[in-house]
Amino acid sequence: MYKKILVPLDGSLRAKVAAEHAMELAKSMDSEVLFLHVIPALPPYVNKYSDRLGGAYQQIHDELQATGEEIMEQAKTEFEKYGVKMEVKVIWGNPAMEICREAKEGRFDLVVMGSRGLGEIKGYLMGSVSNRVVRHASCPVLIVR
Ligand SMILES: Nc1ncnc2c1ncn2[C@@H]1O[C@H](COP(=O)(O)OP(=O)(O)OP(=O)(O)O)[C@@H](O)[C@H]1O
Ligand SMILES: [Mg+2]
Repeated sequence: MYKKILVPLDGSLRAKVAAEHAMELAKSMDSEVLFLHVIPALPPYVNKYSDRLGGAYQQIHDELQATGEEIMEQAKTEFEKYGVKMEVKVIWGNPAMEICREAKEGRFDLVVMGSRGLGEIKGYLMGSVSNRVVRHASCPVLIVR
């Protein structure tokens, strides 16, 4: 039924638990999975400055990119055992918007994600990203608690 499953990962434990669920589902339905990590875009005004700030900007940019790729590599290694066809993608932008865009443009049948992620604020059932994706995605969304 769900041939293409999108699994957004932010490096949190909850996203990993959701990914495990997605892999079980994918295995039982012979689906393919795309792991997506969205790096929140840095404020563009910093670009205007050269020297110190420009250097720091570049450094943060590169570190975030490297961390994103690391999260993807870990996922590939960890979930290889399911024998499911997997791909990974790291992009920059607004996480909720990019997840919804990918779901639509990639014609995904389902998004599987965690209820919460790396955010520290306690007391909410769902984080801001999962909240927005549930409301705006063009396909069904499965939130794993
Ligand atoms: N940058 C991201 N890239 C990919 N997936 C993400 C990203 N951020 C969150 N997610 C996905 O959304 C799920 C819920 O995370 P969310 O960010 O909504 O909660 P939170 O971090 O606890 O709260 P908030 O970010 O609002 O402080 C995660 O388990 C993960 O599946
Ligand atoms: Mg978050």
